[in-house]
Amino acid sequence: MLPLIIANWKANKTAEEAMIWMDGFARTRQRDNATYVIAPPTALLGAVRERALQLGLMLGAQDVSSYPAGAYTGEVPARSLASMGVQYVIVGHSERRRYFHEDSVLVAEKIRRVLEANMYPVVCVDVPEFRPQADQLNPDERARCIVAYEPVHAISTFGGQEDPLAVTLENVQQLREAFGNVPVLYGGSVKPDNALAYIQSAELQGVLVGGSSLDAATFTAL
Ligand code: PGA
Repeated sequence: MLPLIIANWKANKTAEEAMIWMDGFARTRQRDNATYVIAPPTALLGAVRERALQLGLMLGAQDVSSYPAGAYTGEVPARSLASMGVQYVIVGHSERRRYFHEDSVLVAEKIRRVLEANMYPVVCVDVPEFRPQADQLNPDERARCIVAYEPVHAISTFGGQEDPLAVTLENVQQLREAFGNVPVLYGGSVKPDNALAYIQSAELQGVLVGGSSLDAATFTAL
């Protein structure tokens, strides 16, 4: 598996800024040996889709409804995301857990919706969530997850202290005891000067990037 590098733009960018980013990505792209995913705000998926696919970028979403398609005003169901070409869906991000009070039960429902629509759930967990989150899933569901180990203190907007690689690897071992032998990403203050250590580690299959994904040239320098 090529390393997976996911750009989580969070609630940033207009359609115009997104297109400027695409041009910047096309100009500065350095590596071919990675799978790049961009997760723009959901409202921008339509605007970026064609250009992203042209550039060989995969599409991601930052969240999904825990409900199926139907009469749930304002929700974005997995089916709609899949129809836009989305393949990866971030679920249970620490900002969702903190600001929107999402718990492991709700996040497990979202994971099910993503799997039903044949997309990859990218399940974000910090150490306290490893067990509770894994316990909400059956073995088949667990085996189909990509799990992002995201220590809350490392997220740039919460504390910005990235985990040293050795600590990350210890925790990733614990994570695999809970989830099984799934692909694991690291996220939290990944920057051009530390990204390579995570990307090249045999225990990790990639990185989830917030702040450093907003500028195309910074992102392609990872
Ligand atoms: P950061 O965010 O790279 O800005 O720390 C990572 C994340 O929130 O997924």
